[in-house]
Amino acid sequence: MKLFEPYNIAGKLELPNRIVMPPLVTRLATNEGEVTEELMDRYLLYARGGVGLIITEAVSVKKQKSGPLLRLSEDRFIPGLKGLVDQIHDASNSKVAPQLIHFLKISRSGYRQKVEDLTLEEIRAIPQLFAEAACRAREVGFDALELHFAHAYTMSSFLSRHNKRKDDYGGSLKNRLRLAQVVVERTRSAIGDNMVLGARMNGEEFTLGGNTLKQSREIALSLAGLGLDYISITAGGKFEDAVARDGRALDPYTTGYSGHRAMPPAWMPEKVNAYLCADIKRTLDRQGHNPTMITAGRIPTASVAEEVLEAGDADLVAVARPILCDPFWPRKYHEGRDKDVQKCIYCNACRDMDAAHQKVVCVQWKRKNGSVAPPQS
Ligand SMILES: Cc1cc2nc3c(=O)[nH]c(=O)nc-3n(C[C@H](O)[C@H](O)[C@H](O)COP(=O)(O)O)c2cc1C
Repeated sequence: MKLFEPYNIAGKLELPNRIVMPPLVTRLATNEGEVTEELMDRYLLYARGGVGLIITEAVSVKKQKSGPLLRLSEDRFIPGLKGLVDQIHDASNSKVAPQLIHFLKISRSGYRQKVEDLTLEEIRAIPQLFAEAACRAREVGFDALELHFAHAYTMSSFLSRHNKRKDDYGGSLKNRLRLAQVVVERTRSAIGDNMVLGARMNGEEFTLGGNTLKQSREIALSLAGLGLDYISITAGGKFEDAVARDGRALDPYTTGYSGHRAMPPAWMPEKVNAYLCADIKRTLDRQGHNPTMITAGRIPTASVAEEVLEAGDADLVAVARPILCDPFWPRKYHEGRDKDVQKCIYCNACRDMDAAHQKVVCVQWKRKNGSVAPPQS
């Protein structure tokens, strides 16, 4: 199967296969954003399970309290992450990249900071935050770097048609792209040409008045023109479509159709977002750009992943919840042990745990093993 063949990103990074574990928040870091043993064990399991590329949960570039989410906002986070990366490299052939994120304030009171609220000074500080975190990531020994330009967060909100700023950072697509372009350029100069740099972006926002494929094609073209080595296409996850619930911070994933497109539930078809990646891949190709393209979203089995690759819809296939459910998903399929794979039922209990700020596990771990331990081989 093509899925198990090695793949080289931009002549810079050789992956043992074409399976990606995309970012999936674990909530296993300390409240200060540091690596814990439990977090280390989680990622080591993915590595032992045989995945080609692990992209970590979103790692904050900003010096701010964020609960149990990883951070690269200060040098003090380097040793912990170095321990994590070294252990993954020692235990496997898996490669590993952090997903760098910048996010705005949100509170239970219902308050949500928007891109329109930021001062020019605050906006102009953002590229430096990414660049500094990227330097730290390189020092840690990560194999690649992903910029989070998708879903509900700052960068995606600037790119969105929902961005109603009246200055150089809002309104026209040219203006909405401005910050992302500077972030890519500054990050690239911080890490140099030899390290793989990618970005995750929405193929479509699935909100009324939000970005559709039309805008996403343009965004991808612009970012590819800046020399990104890969573009990972996801969808949805916008606050604009989330439904407010009393006493809870607005959640862009658990309520609303846009959220469902980011983490497609069982009632959505298989490979529901692959056409977005396919369309953008072909658009880029026609314009002479060939970054590695990654798709994600309800790809349950190796045979569905293979269909995506055979159709040329993506170069790499990301599988999140099924690998959380059974970290040995890649190895088992590769060894023909299809029946041994513990199958994700896309119940989204993991998504709800994340939303409730609880440690993220799979409910099936418990049911099958009588404890919360995932399959170990
Ligand atoms: C609990 C949970 C946490 C997630 N955290 C992130 C994240 O930090 N960054 C990101 O880009 N996507 C995140 N995602 C989205 C996944 O990377 C993936 O795109 C999505 O789950 C669809 O893929 P799947 O159907 O294979 O699960 C998360 C998904 C879940 C379920």
